Amino acid sequence: MKPDIFKVGIIGVGYIGKIHLEELSRVEGVEVTAIADSDIELAKKIGKNFGIKKVYSNRKELVNDSDIEVIHNCTPNNFHFEVNKEVMESGKEIFSEKPLALNADESRILAETAREKGTITGINFCYRYYPVIQEAAYRIRSGEIGDVHTVLGHYLQDWLLYSTDYSWRLDPKFSGRSNVMGDLGSHWCDLVQFITGSRIKEVMAELRTVIPKRQKPRDRSTLTFSDRVSEDSRKIDIKLDDYGAMMIRFENNARGTFTTAQVCAGRKCNIDVQIYGTEKSLAWNHERASELWIGKRNEANEIFFESPLLQNESTRHYATLPSGHPMGYRDAIVNLFRDYYKAIRDKREGHKTASNHPDFIAGHNEMLILEAALESSKQGVWTEVRYNDF
Ligand SMILES: NC(=O)c1ccc[n+]([C@@H]2O[C@H](COP(=O)([O-])OP(=O)(O)OC[C@H]3O[C@@H](n4cnc5c(N)ncnc54)[C@H](O)[C@@H]3O)[C@@H](O)[C@H]2O)c1
Repeated sequence: MKPDIFKVGIIGVGYIGKIHLEELSRVEGVEVTAIADSDIELAKKIGKNFGIKKVYSNRKELVNDSDIEVIHNCTPNNFHFEVNKEVMESGKEIFSEKPLALNADESRILAETAREKGTITGINFCYRYYPVIQEAAYRIRSGEIGDVHTVLGHYLQDWLLYSTDYSWRLDPKFSGRSNVMGDLGSHWCDLVQFITGSRIKEVMAELRTVIPKRQKPRDRSTLTFSDRVSEDSRKIDIKLDDYGAMMIRFENNARGTFTTAQVCAGRKCNIDVQIYGTEKSLAWNHERASELWIGKRNEANEIFFESPLLQNESTRHYATLPSGHPMGYRDAIVNLFRDYYKAIRDKREGHKTASNHPDFIAGHNEMLILEAALESSKQGVWTEVRYNDF
């Protein structure tokens, strides 16, 4: 029977888990009825503030809760594999935070399990869901800028600038073999492949640790992006990257370059994408996320502002505010959630979905790109991304 409301559980209600919780309240036909966090005090506080019926300290209780149909996995990276797998094996649908797992062996198993079980999977590559990003992808598909030959960009932040800044993301036990290239690089690579419609084929990468020693708090004193400096800390060696760069060859023969770092003072969440075609150019920067720059050779350049009236028919539903009202990060996440839940609804109603949201195959492909980058950085050579057929 078709349910009217999907009952949803969230595992991990730290920084991003709380955003999932808040933004799911804007998605039609969805109700968060359970949360789980190993920090039970945090979970209880959030449960109380948001009126959540069930609050668990052990995630397995949530996975085994037969009322729940869909789970959002918002735990740190080292739990992604086991939680995602447990959820699929329980027969529930799963929406995971990125990166999909700690390495490509794990992410391949997750993509295969999803196929075997017919699970509707999603992964939070949310930047695809700004209205003008969808518009840019449409314009490239429709041939407006000609053949894409060059893709440039960066993703820069500054929250790890000082040696007193610390995050679990710098610990291989939680993050795997990469910090910034996995964390921010995965978003940028997903974004440019989505916009251009072309996969990354080969990379020549360099990963580097700009700050090799940091003060690590002895307690679990900071959630992500907190500005609190712990008074009780010890100096430790940092092995993972806080800087990374790649030259890229795309499958359509375009070339690109990408730089990422979390140590660039003043850059908070500066995502930059520039796409050059044989007729026109497109550019987008996250600091002006409502605007798409269109570069022309023989006419004045143009700035296209997101619009439910002026975007192409196929993308205008992502611009959910009246023209002139800028949308933001949270709106992009809601757009992604809506596409994801549409896919679940289509499955329940027995038809193939047209939803093109990022799924576990997209998550696995990002892990393959990351592994190619790690290999390239180690060997100092161009390295091919070895995609699987699913
Ligand atoms: N898509 C995005 O834009 C985006 C942004 C931020 C974070 N993320 C991803 O989200 C994940 C979480 O990051 P965060 O910044 O929210 O971290 P965080 O440290 O702020 O929160 C993680 C939460 O998970 C809880 N937790 C840890 N282990 C658990 C377990 N075994 N069971 C239940 N709860 C557990 C912690 O107590 C904490 O409350 C990471 O994988 C990160 O890469 C994605």
